[in-house]
Amino acid sequence: QELQMNLEQIEKGGYEHFMLKEIYEQPSVIKDTYRGRLHANEGIVQLAGVEDNLEKFLNADRIIIVACGTSWHAGLVAEYIFEEFARIPVEVEYASEFRYRNPIINKTDVVIAISQSGETADTMAAIKLAKEHGAFVFGVCNVVGSSISRETHAGAYTHAGPEIGVASTKAFTTQITVLTMIALRLAKAKGTLSSPDFHRYLQELELIPDKVKEVLETNDVAKEIAGVFKDSPNCLYLGRGYNFPVALEGALKLKEISYIHAEGYPAAEMKHGPIALIDEHMPVIVIAPKQGHYDKIVSNIQEIKSRSGKIIAVVTKGDTQVRELADYVIEIPETSDALSPLITTIPLQLLSYHIAVMRGCNVDQPRNLAKSVTVE
Ligand code: G6P
Repeated sequence: QELQMNLEQIEKGGYEHFMLKEIYEQPSVIKDTYRGRLHANEGIVQLAGVEDNLEKFLNADRIIIVACGTSWHAGLVAEYIFEEFARIPVEVEYASEFRYRNPIINKTDVVIAISQSGETADTMAAIKLAKEHGAFVFGVCNVVGSSISRETHAGAYTHAGPEIGVASTKAFTTQITVLTMIALRLAKAKGTLSSPDFHRYLQELELIPDKVKEVLETNDVAKEIAGVFKDSPNCLYLGRGYNFPVALEGALKLKEISYIHAEGYPAAEMKHGPIALIDEHMPVIVIAPKQGHYDKIVSNIQEIKSRSGKIIAVVTKGDTQVRELADYVIEIPETSDALSPLITTIPLQLLSYHIAVMRGCNVDQPRNLAKSVTVE
């Protein structure tokens, strides 16, 4: 028993929980994920599974992404990135919906299945269906040799290492890293990004681990904010564009581990419903980096403020406009809009973590949840 406990302590590497350890591992695992694949100075980005099947990707009329949970959110981020960088139409599907609705799948579709565990039953079934229809199926998995990695025609691993905490953190950011690299590779082949833009994105991707490190230094701020809002029964997360999926993921993280009801919304949709919920008891977390739809987000924040909502904003360092309106701000380093999810998601992970700890929840093994869902 004692030996068992000591072993677990060692595995946690001095952190109180696996989740916190995994949040802090992100700078190094993002680097592991692009190591050998991204050479910014030479203008090279290549993944063996993509190089071997480049024609299939280039001839694709569309990409269909299938996944569940957090991996589905990574898929949503990828949708924005693929369409922007490589100008390929993308659909993102919950694997469970896709498999049961007689979907239209063509031979010219590329299906990308995203799964940390590589064992999710619904995702596996979606892959089998896509294969039956003759589509090329590419996997983005973390667990080497997993069922999905074997069932797909080709793939690219994330190199996040074992993820123990049930709430996914480092798997999410490394999935986005892989998908961004694929989009950049295709953009290069298709000429859909200008050469300076292409090179700038490569350079920027290489700088992400350092920026993530910088955001992790805001841990105390996240902890302080957690202390203020830990007893809220509800929480709203808003973001636009690339950061809309981050809002969904932030809300998912909070409900999974703290059991607080949380919803993520595209900020502009607030006026079509959620705004009715806003009063002085409603914390609203707004992802408002300088790049992106900043002015629009500022007006969304004003709308929340005029209804006395409590505003917690994730802003770019040096921001003044949002700071004036918000009750709390968490500062992040500047990054281009397309790569910002890799940065903006970090403070939301920390916030959920601290709230869950303060509420006495079992952070690493939340009730009713499983790390991999091998039944439908
Ligand atoms: C479960 C886990 C989530 C995960 C989802 C998809 O619900 O608790 O953290 O995002 O499954 O898992 P996968 O392994 O396919 O990414």
